[in-house]
Amino acid sequence: MSLRNKDTNMEANDKKRNLLLEIYQEFGSRFCDMEIVYGDGNPDSGIVFIGEAPGKDEVKLKKPFVGSAGKILRDFLERAGFTRQDIYITNAVKYRLFRINEKTGNKINRPAKKEDLENCRPYLIRELLVLSPKIIATLGNVPLQTLMGTEAKIGEVHGKKTDIKIEGKEFLLYPLYHPASLIYNRSLEDVYRQDLSGLENLIKQLKAGERIG
Ligand code: URA
Repeated sequence: MSLRNKDTNMEANDKKRNLLLEIYQEFGSRFCDMEIVYGDGNPDSGIVFIGEAPGKDEVKLKKPFVGSAGKILRDFLERAGFTRQDIYITNAVKYRLFRINEKTGNKINRPAKKEDLENCRPYLIRELLVLSPKIIATLGNVPLQTLMGTEAKIGEVHGKKTDIKIEGKEFLLYPLYHPASLIYNRSLEDVYRQDLSGLENLIKQLKAGERIG
C-alpha cells in the first residue's frame, strides 16, 4: 500500500537510493568499529517506520527487524494489509547497542544512551529528508525522543498523529509502541492493534487525498 504513484519517476528513485547510500557510507566510515544495520524496504513508499537499534539477528542478516520484534511487526503489518516492501524500515540508532556480560563474555543488548542518540540523529534526519515520507511511524521511545526530545513519552502519545518540522520541512508523525514491548506486556496487544488500524485509516485518507489536519 504505497502512498506514491506507481509511475513515479525512476530517475528520482535512483537518485534517492544513491543519496541514501552516501549517508550510509558516511555513517559506516565514522562508526567503522560498530556492528551496523542500515534502512531497508521501499524508499519511495511514503511511509517510514523507525525502530530503536538493531539486535543480534539484524546484525547477522544486515536488515532491520528480522528477529523476534520483527516477527511481531510483520504479523501486525500483515493484518493491517502491508508487507515490508510497502514501507521503508530504519532505526534511530544504526549500530548494535551492546555490552559484554562479564561472566559469559557474550554480548548483551543495552539501552540507548543520550550519546548514541546524539551520534545517530544527524544521519536519521538526513535519511528522512531524502526519503521525504508522508508518514513517519516511530516504534517506541528511542526514535520518538530522537525526533521530539526526551520529554515525549510513548505511553502518552501513541496512536496520536502530530505534525512535526524537521529542518523547516513538515512531516506527519504517528508514534507506535515498539513491537518488542508486546513480548513483555501482552496486554498492549489490543492497543497496538488499535493504533495500527488508526495508521491504516490515516494512510487511506492520504491516498484518497483528503485533508487530515
Ligand atoms: N528492534 C529495533 O528497534 N530495531 C531492529 O532493527 C530490531 C529490533
